[in-house]
Amino acid sequence: MSTSTFRLQYLAKAAAGVPRDLVNTFVSAKLHPIRPTVLIYNCTWVCDAKCTMCSNWKFGDRKSDMTLAQLEPVFDNPFWTAVENLNISGGEPTTRNDLPDMVEMFHRHLPRVRKIGINTTGLTPHRAIPMLTRIVEFCAAKGLLISIRVSLDGIGDIHNQVRNVKRGFDKACQTIEAMQALAKKHDNFQFGIAATIFGTNMPDAENILAWARAKEIDVVFNMLRFTDAMLHNKELQETIGFREREETFMRKFFLDRVQEESVLSGQAFMYLHYADMIANGYKRTMPCPFRSQGLLLNPNGDLHYCENSEKLGNVLDDSAETLYFKAESLAHREHLKEKVCPTCLSPCQVNVGAMKQFVPYARFLKRAYQVKRDPQRHLDTLPVAEQVR
Ligand SMILES: C[S@@+](CC[C@H](N)C(=O)[O-])C[C@H]1O[C@@H](n2cnc3c(N)ncnc32)[C@H](O)[C@@H]1O
Ligand code: SF4
Ligand code: SF4
Repeated sequence: MSTSTFRLQYLAKAAAGVPRDLVNTFVSAKLHPIRPTVLIYNCTWVCDAKCTMCSNWKFGDRKSDMTLAQLEPVFDNPFWTAVENLNISGGEPTTRNDLPDMVEMFHRHLPRVRKIGINTTGLTPHRAIPMLTRIVEFCAAKGLLISIRVSLDGIGDIHNQVRNVKRGFDKACQTIEAMQALAKKHDNFQFGIAATIFGTNMPDAENILAWARAKEIDVVFNMLRFTDAMLHNKELQETIGFREREETFMRKFFLDRVQEESVLSGQAFMYLHYADMIANGYKRTMPCPFRSQGLLLNPNGDLHYCENSEKLGNVLDDSAETLYFKAESLAHREHLKEKVCPTCLSPCQVNVGAMKQFVPYARFLKRAYQVKRDPQRHLDTLPVAEQVR
């Protein structure tokens, strides 16, 4: 389906939740912490690649992944019923044979879920294609929006190099082609690719863009980041973190994307903020739903508020509800908000937070139009770093 049709469907579903969102904003700020509305589940660290910017593959251990039989009782609790956005990631989700059953289990226990997102390498097409097809068809039958992105970090050999996989580009392309054909059949399915740009593949960023355009595939560019709870890659910061050359290139690259994207797209919102952060010494001005209403669940049951929070405990030992509302956890979340959020680069579900914040979003729209008209003026339009919400 076209990205704009999918976006309209998503907006319609989001609009239906606006009164609840307003209540939630008030409740979270003034009264009692609210239950999670966004959830990331890293279903395994097992992986079919060995990427140079992510070390999850080093932690793959099937025996410590929660089985579906362990997972279902964890979610059989009204605590989870506020979740609206679910992202399933890893490791490589399609290495789990029970991925489609897992999606069906989530559908049984998350009655408010509006959108499910899955990131995949697409590197094992003979497994991934049938599995993802079954998931898309299930979501279509249940009226659920599903977004799938295949990661692509270069065209041809650069992708193989970044992912350390022989013929990785050709394999990913097989999955991409099958998903693109599937998306034509289902209105509830948004398909695209995701690219993570850093020193190694920077020369190929424009090629990825041109390749995706030629094939009419939606593409998002991730900002390079370092987090142990999500990517096990803090130790890589020293070696592959951005230097001046990468910063200069990426700021321009993101501003160019703002110029081309509709300002109403979530991507323009994210790209402008990334360009801001590179220019302002990494002060975050993007909102983030994980500050007040998110959870990250890792393969062995370790629970975190977000990719930068400490482990709150393990859901096989204590209920997620207990861990989420525990005074000690909530104190940690306050610490996180004060010390970590101000420079955090995470994009996770940022659009969920953005749309719920009417005044900052209106300010963003105004700036986005200014930058679109004249990118040279980007530095003049930079907002004073406000507190992120
Ligand atoms: C961690 S992967 C998990 C799913 C799957 N294995 C894949 O690669 O698509 C999810 C996304 O994170 C991106 N990613 C990996 N390393 C990153 C980094 N250091 N900074 C930002 N994004 C990164 C990947 O390219 C992918 O699009
Ligand atoms: S980015 Fe994805 S494919 Fe690469 S190592 Fe990390 S989890 Fe595996
Ligand atoms: S901004 Fe970053 S550190 Fe703060 S809650 Fe969001 S993901 Fe966590």
